[in-house]
Amino acid sequence: MGDTSADPGRLLAQMTLPEKVGQLTMITGEWAQTGPKAMPVSVDAIRAGAAGSILNLWSPDAVRAAQRAAVEGSRLGIPLLVGFDVVHGHRTIFPVPLAEAAAFDPDLWQRTAAAAASEAAADGIGLTFAPMLDVARDPRWGRICEGPGESPVLAARWAAAKVRGFQGAALADPARIAATAKHLGAYGAVAAGRDYASADPSPRDLAEVHLPAFAAAVQAGVAAIMPAFNDIAGQPATAHTDLLQGWLRGGQGFGGVVISDYNAIAELVVHGVAADLAEAAALALRAGVDIDMMGGAYQAGLVPALARGLVTMDQIDAAVLRVLALKQRLGLFADPFRGLGADAPPAGVRFRALAREAAGKAMVLLKNEGAVLPLTCSGGPIAVIGPLADAAEEMLGAWSGAGRAEDCVTFRAGLAAGFPDRALRYAEGAGIESGTAAMIAAAVATAQGADTVLLCAGEARAMSGEASCRGAPVLPEPQLDLARALIASGRPVVLILCSGRPLILPDWLVAGCAAILAAWFPGAEAGHALADVLSGARAPTGRLPVTWPAAIGQIPIHHALRRSGRPASADHYTSKYLDIPVEPLFPFGHGLSYASPQIEALRAEPATVDVPGQITLRFELVNPASQHVETTVLVYRQDPVASIARPVLELCGFVRVQAAPGERVPVSLTFGTDVAAFPGADLAPRVETGRIDFLLGTRAVEAELARVSVHLRGGLPHILPQAEQAGPVQG
Ligand code: GLC
Repeated sequence: MGDTSADPGRLLAQMTLPEKVGQLTMITGEWAQTGPKAMPVSVDAIRAGAAGSILNLWSPDAVRAAQRAAVEGSRLGIPLLVGFDVVHGHRTIFPVPLAEAAAFDPDLWQRTAAAAASEAAADGIGLTFAPMLDVARDPRWGRICEGPGESPVLAARWAAAKVRGFQGAALADPARIAATAKHLGAYGAVAAGRDYASADPSPRDLAEVHLPAFAAAVQAGVAAIMPAFNDIAGQPATAHTDLLQGWLRGGQGFGGVVISDYNAIAELVVHGVAADLAEAAALALRAGVDIDMMGGAYQAGLVPALARGLVTMDQIDAAVLRVLALKQRLGLFADPFRGLGADAPPAGVRFRALAREAAGKAMVLLKNEGAVLPLTCSGGPIAVIGPLADAAEEMLGAWSGAGRAEDCVTFRAGLAAGFPDRALRYAEGAGIESGTAAMIAAAVATAQGADTVLLCAGEARAMSGEASCRGAPVLPEPQLDLARALIASGRPVVLILCSGRPLILPDWLVAGCAAILAAWFPGAEAGHALADVLSGARAPTGRLPVTWPAAIGQIPIHHALRRSGRPASADHYTSKYLDIPVEPLFPFGHGLSYASPQIEALRAEPATVDVPGQITLRFELVNPASQHVETTVLVYRQDPVASIARPVLELCGFVRVQAAPGERVPVSLTFGTDVAAFPGADLAPRVETGRIDFLLGTRAVEAELARVSVHLRGGLPHILPQAEQAGPVQG
């Protein structure tokens, strides 16, 4: 067995070419299938040094066995890097990321990532393929559930919180794991919301929308990056040298490991940019991709590519060194069984209280007519109806790691525990995509005499996530039939929506339900969290991290649209549709609560600020209610005149505030003048002299927000004075 001291350079010098290629090859285990090819873990490949990392394998016994094969069975004894998609929890499953983003709570995001890291590390995981940072504005795309929504600012805050949570202060901490920011880039902009399709963002969109979160992840010290499957304007991200070597490694100074997505290097042949695996391997390696996940392209293609002069040994060595350096940072050379402990049991569900907090903060109250919510703890029967009412597995959502259905508290169970003094009556009423008249009749009978009907409807977890796009993201017809019958029964209906995306809801359903709560896929503590919110034990504070369209025809839709020269109005010649509304059903930032705190005395200090400098916004949050309130105030910016037309509103910050009954809470938010920066015509960031407005409140509706103006002095002009004419214009 070779010297496995923690000096990658010395180790590299001992390695043969096949062993180097092995360190750049990630093979799959058999505990989960997350891509087109899956095969049992090859212990022979590990012993032969032909695989340096593995994914989709966990538990102390399984990882210990695989590590033993590497450390004791291979010539140099280099330990394995063990990766897994710990996206929203490992064994304790938290709400899907789109839901957790609705909490607008970076402290929570960091805590859930840290909790997931400790459970995953106890199961032998050293690296997670998370956080997913793809800004998405198209709910047809199944993976919108997996990311932080539509705002690049929210995504950047999410990125930093998640990286810090997963990685902690040092990767050598056996309770922390390496994070992988994915999928660089513009994966959320795939054409027509169809997974893996081409993305054609403008250079401006790439710079303003899709890259900032990855920059934030790099600044937070993320250990790895995963390129996206899609091409960006014809250049597959996996072979995108300008993006990976240029922007990421050169521009952002990223020195970590780039791991391809599943089989993505081999798929460069399918994209049509490589004639064979040798060319595919060469394109990816030269672009800076270090590890080939499950593609076999490096295994089959790198040696021929070297022989054909398509790659150099230095390029191979540079990639191997980065992989060895990550293993060293994780402490794997010192202890290949890091985190596993002597006789550690498999990770159990260790963070139920945190999962309950996260799920409660993720829920967004979309409608609450006549304050039908919160429900009182005493009173008449509550009817709990629908295919998602008692559906443990569906609560997990997509990418549920090592989560198990039996760990999940269903809505029905949680409501029974949360309302012990009220009779609960249950009926399924319909399946998620099927149903019968008899089921509906039984549900209507169950609803008779109930004070309130809780209709738990929505998607199956399998209708959301990777390769699960929906051209019509609506509620399936059997559930609409059930809803129609329950509304017709005359009992007040509260719609509890489970989904991985905003769903297109018909007008009659929105009008017919007294209240609507977006519960998303809430995770292990779904039922307890729902009871907390419906009872008021936890007032709803969630805000939509993604615009909720009123019709499919509006998609893609988001809050940061530019005004255009003819903004929508009653006038004919303006930007609107003949047959559907322009406004979304629920705007970005929308979210009701059981109290309505107000923003008062908003001011900016100083009113005129020199660039570079600082701007402090001050206001008072007034709580007129008789109960404690916690709320999230969103801050939008508006640049009325600039060298580039700017969005009407752009989220630029947010703050959670608590206020006791009757309290006036002074709040201050300080920004650098770079809060007004935007990419100029040359895409270089610029801050311009002139007025910048800040609008505060909740949802992205200009007229509803409190506005304050600041004058920036000493920035760049938005228009240059015309130079003097150089003499008479020659005829
Ligand atoms: C999948 C996903 C990626 C995931 C990887 C490993 O195809 O695109 O997000 O991390 O494969 O499971």
